[in-house]
Amino acid sequence: MDASATPRRVRAAEVDRKVTVPLVRSSKRATTGRSLVMVTAYDAPGARIADRAGVDIVLVGDSLAMVVLGYEDTLSVTVEDMAHHTAAVARARPRALVVADMPWMSYHVSTEDTVRNAAALIRSGATAVKLEGGRNRVAAIESIVHAEIPVMGHLGLTPQSVHAMGGFKVQAKEAGAARTLLDDARALVGAGCFAIVLEGIPDAVARLVTESVEVPTIGIGAGPACDGQVLVFHDVLGLEERIVPKFVRRYAELGSLAVEALREYADDVRNGTFPSDQETYHLSPGVEEELSGLYGAA
Ligand code: KIV
Repeated sequence: MDASATPRRVRAAEVDRKVTVPLVRSSKRATTGRSLVMVTAYDAPGARIADRAGVDIVLVGDSLAMVVLGYEDTLSVTVEDMAHHTAAVARARPRALVVADMPWMSYHVSTEDTVRNAAALIRSGATAVKLEGGRNRVAAIESIVHAEIPVMGHLGLTPQSVHAMGGFKVQAKEAGAARTLLDDARALVGAGCFAIVLEGIPDAVARLVTESVEVPTIGIGAGPACDGQVLVFHDVLGLEERIVPKFVRRYAELGSLAVEALREYADDVRNGTFPSDQETYHLSPGVEEELSGLYGAA
């Protein structure tokens, strides 16, 4: 069939097509001319909103800990927490690929635990898992890939290493550290990762990695040269007042809008204008009359 004869139908089919791991793996920007878009989501409405916006990948990030559950860092979140929220995201049945973060200590102890924990996230509805670290995580990645579970890597400012890094600090700023990161990226590809998140590193290092590996890189605070970008849902939408890093662009101020809306609601309740007659259920006239004798009976 001549594809150019039905361009609208072909375009619609592309838009509707479920995003798969092989599709993402082959999405180097230099080849497709298109950047991958990833955003976090932690529940069904968030996943539906992200999907309606046409993102490629929904990440159930362990940022859940800080953004939704109120912890100071990501270390307190458990496999059970991640599975609970992954299931909620998956129930939205997004067209986007659903990737779930493996939390700290879920892939650090034994191969059996690692594979079992990855499987728990897949059984909750994720199609792939993400984990942090370089060459020190190759054995874990290989064991998960061996169980037919796709793995996304994560290098640079890896929040699960907050104490080892001495805080949330930009990484790979020196030549030696940049070379180490490049070697780590190659090791992740060798172990079977289908994509790599690059977080909090200088743009030149991200460009070097992006040009050196055959799988797509997805940046967050890593400059524009990556094959895609990821941001946290609540940061993009300005849902909170918290101080955000300089790489965050807020596309809305929904937090202020929400406060304003709830303030109006509170005012309306207090001044008696909510609920109105239209917002109230009524008895049919006969029943109301029957009951009228009861008014004031107490
Ligand atoms: O947990 C998360 O949200 C992440 C992204 C920011 C990459 O890992």
